[in-house]
Amino acid sequence: MIRFEQVSKTYPGGFHALKNLSFNIDKGEMIFIAGHSGAGKSTVLKLISGIIKPSQGHVWLNNQDLGHLGDNQLGFLRQHIGIVFQDHKILFDRTVLQNVLLPLRIIGYDAKQADKRARIAIEKVGLGGRELADPITLSGGEQQRLCIARAWCTNLAY
Ligand SMILES: Nc1ncnc2c1ncn2[C@@H]1O[C@H](COP(=O)(O)OP(=O)(O)OP(=O)(O)O)[C@@H](O)[C@H]1O
Ligand SMILES: [Mg+2]
Repeated sequence: MIRFEQVSKTYPGGFHALKNLSFNIDKGEMIFIAGHSGAGKSTVLKLISGIIKPSQGHVWLNNQDLGHLGDNQLGFLRQHIGIVFQDHKILFDRTVLQNVLLPLRIIGYDAKQADKRARIAIEKVGLGGRELADPITLSGGEQQRLCIARAWCTNLAY
């Protein structure tokens, strides 16, 4: 499902974040990536989601070489990936509920379905009752849980 083939990533400025990394992840596998701060974990996640491109090698997602996809195709593909960003990427000019609604509306749920799904996801991460809160009023851990709800809501089975 996810395949790295001899992937290297050199950031502008010349820093080699990844060198010749190869691995396979099959459907249904649960993988943990461990490593010291700066080891390249977030770089791997950004490559998987097409946020950045490899300097060398290939990243395959469902048999598609991400290097061959245009921005539109990458955007479409990203709709199927839930990411909990290390720096949250919460929209602070929107409520908790509106943050979770956003990916649902983008992938085409109508307002009613999206609202139901978003509220279930928020409840499941323990933020029930904070739907209309301004995210700035959430603690660090609560903000992280909001991000989990937002990443998870599109894939939630209920
Ligand atoms: N945009 C960038 N430009 C230059 N160097 C970068 C950039 N992004 C990351 N790096 C460097 O690449 C290396 C890997 O970064 P990455 O964010 O993947 O680490 P990480 O394993 O996620 O670390 P942490 O556990 O601290 O989150 C680090 O040394 C970092 O400084
Ligand atoms: Mg990181």
